[in-house]
Amino acid sequence: MTTQNAAPDFEDRMLSLGLARVSEAAAVASAGLVGRGDERAADQAAVNAMREQLNLLDIRGTVVIGEGERDEAPMLFIGEEVGSGQGPEVDIALDPLEGTTLTAKDMPGALTVIAIGPRGSMLHAPDVYMDKLAVGPGHAPDVVTLEMAPAERVEALAAAKGCRPGDLTVCILERPRHEAMIAEVRATGAAIRLITDGDVAGVMHCAEPETTGIDMYMGAGGAPEGVLAAAALKCMGGQIFGRLLFRNDDERARAARAGITDLDRVYSRDEMVTADVIFAATGVTGGTLLPGIRRGSGWIETTTLLMRSRTGSVRRMQYRRRAS
Ligand code: FBP
Repeated sequence: MTTQNAAPDFEDRMLSLGLARVSEAAAVASAGLVGRGDERAADQAAVNAMREQLNLLDIRGTVVIGEGERDEAPMLFIGEEVGSGQGPEVDIALDPLEGTTLTAKDMPGALTVIAIGPRGSMLHAPDVYMDKLAVGPGHAPDVVTLEMAPAERVEALAAAKGCRPGDLTVCILERPRHEAMIAEVRATGAAIRLITDGDVAGVMHCAEPETTGIDMYMGAGGAPEGVLAAAALKCMGGQIFGRLLFRNDDERARAARAGITDLDRVYSRDEMVTADVIFAATGVTGGTLLPGIRRGSGWIETTTLLMRSRTGSVRRMQYRRRAS
């Protein structure tokens, strides 16, 4: 896997188990709120637990992708310093509950997500939309591009895989803004898996098409989620491209505050995440990527995907503890 800009003092191997604990803790904290119709309470529980566990890690961490800007989010805001204050200087991208609505409604695909990389390794994506396109590993660079129309992307990927467009499945967020894209992809004969939320998982599905049945992801979703998805694919393999989308001057100002000057730039995976990272995601509600939280008499169990891009290691870790 990639070793570009490997930072010798980024203790990715040592840190990775601690990262799994952070991700697990957020999931366990939200467990009692699955299906309870309260998005805010579920998110808050995950945020509190993730922050508490992060502060136990021996890192000097800065949140670069977080719950929002400082004036919008009291905890895990962009720029917040986290960790014990000892150890490597790192950047942190997190979403303590990716899919708050999925959790509140007990629908598939909610995850807790966190990635850590050396300081300066992750795009400081503002909270705006991003046009995204992702495919799995094993393809030539630029096998599909954001410049291609949706149907062209399907045809290009089918040609690369040596199959028909009708053999492919594309994952798209179900939103009115995607109606034309959905119609164009359907016209190629390809299948579409519509998701109502959770496009970090949507993108990650592409890395394991044999398991998930998804070959490509496309459409506009949150830019912070795009960076998290890029961190995941850097570990699992696969390509993602993203272009920030701005609807008004406030959103352009957010980009300026994040230090972004070229508003039309297309970012590749390794431009969104420029050095080796570690990544953890824990299933909250079950999906094709990860099972959700399970509970039995006196116990609670989670499954976490724990990955390192330096080695390309992908672990699925089950954690069971006494339910309190
Ligand atoms: P939350 O974690 O805030 O619930 O976000 C869920 C999500 O579906 C993301 O996965 C996605 O990137 C974004 O919302 C899409 O935004 P919108 O709902 O505005 O289309």
